[in-house]
Amino acid sequence: MIDIVPVKYEDGKMLILDQTQLPCAKEYLELKTKEDIWDAIYKLKVRGAPAIGVAAGYGLYHSVKDLEAGSYESFRRQFMEIKEYLASSRPTAVNLFWALDKMEASLIKAKDLSVADIKDVLLKEAELIRQEDEEACKAMGEYGLSLLKPGMGILTHCNAGTIATAKYGTCLAPLYLGHDKGYDFKVFADETRPLLQGARLTAWELNEAGIDTTLICDNMASIVMKNGWVDAVVVGCDRMAANGDGANKIGTSGVAILAHEYGIPFYMFVPTSTIDCNTKSGAEIHIELRNGEEISTLWYIKPMAPEGIKTYNPAFDVTDAKYITAVVTEKGILYPPYEDSIRKLFEQEETK
Ligand code: MRU
Repeated sequence: MIDIVPVKYEDGKMLILDQTQLPCAKEYLELKTKEDIWDAIYKLKVRGAPAIGVAAGYGLYHSVKDLEAGSYESFRRQFMEIKEYLASSRPTAVNLFWALDKMEASLIKAKDLSVADIKDVLLKEAELIRQEDEEACKAMGEYGLSLLKPGMGILTHCNAGTIATAKYGTCLAPLYLGHDKGYDFKVFADETRPLLQGARLTAWELNEAGIDTTLICDNMASIVMKNGWVDAVVVGCDRMAANGDGANKIGTSGVAILAHEYGIPFYMFVPTSTIDCNTKSGAEIHIELRNGEEISTLWYIKPMAPEGIKTYNPAFDVTDAKYITAVVTEKGILYPPYEDSIRKLFEQEETK
């Protein structure tokens, strides 16, 4: 696995790996202001639901650490304004809101401390969000590997790898773990139009790790499945509703429907931070609509379509729970009916 993390907080500096430059350059950007942090999330310089959560935690701390406030109330007011601002950067991945809410909860818990001590508590919370995500990914790698066998052909869509998380990735974690054990997987990476997370990020990550990887265009998933080259599909998730419907990168639902048609298991990797029990079904998930130029212009440089063409550019789609063979979480593997397995998982957590 590549030894590179998407978000670092070192000596009071917030650094992110600029994923828009990959695979050509591995550049860390220093984010100084709340506007820099908002922009980095909006422009997918830092991306992938768990990594967005990690960036939001550090980003909120970084944006409030130099605030001057004579009282808890005045600090809280400014904190909440920045929290709302960062929350407006992208709408679909629930980890953004989950991490910001966790930061707010620790602020409230620390309300009797001095403002200086509250700031220390917030930094610790941001670090915990990062650390717990790393642990969750490791656990998902182990659970996920139990579903796979040596030599399998695996198809994946978008990038749910180490740079989309604190470390290890969600659905790529078992591939790294299996590779270390000599499993010899043959991976097909969908390029993932329009922003090419599969080609630029997944193919790069896996290739660097020495995993046998074949890049395909999105419209080739059907033929590789029909050829019998795919034994399992693994994907990440941006928000899973209480009924098991899962939003992930645009194109995921089509892959799931194909896998169903060809009788191939479809596994969605969903840390509990990505499960949103307040959302009943996929129909309630806010799907981000992005600028049509992402479709019509190659990296905003060269036109790929007639000027002014009408576009529709949803960044995510929802895979219906009925197409998901199993949901891999850090607490274990869930099976249908997901209303029950998700509810039980959270009930168990509450009684701990
Ligand atoms: O628009 P992106 O690149 O942030 O979309 C990322 C995905 O859809 C990932 O599959 C998902 O966030 C899971 S990352 C572990």
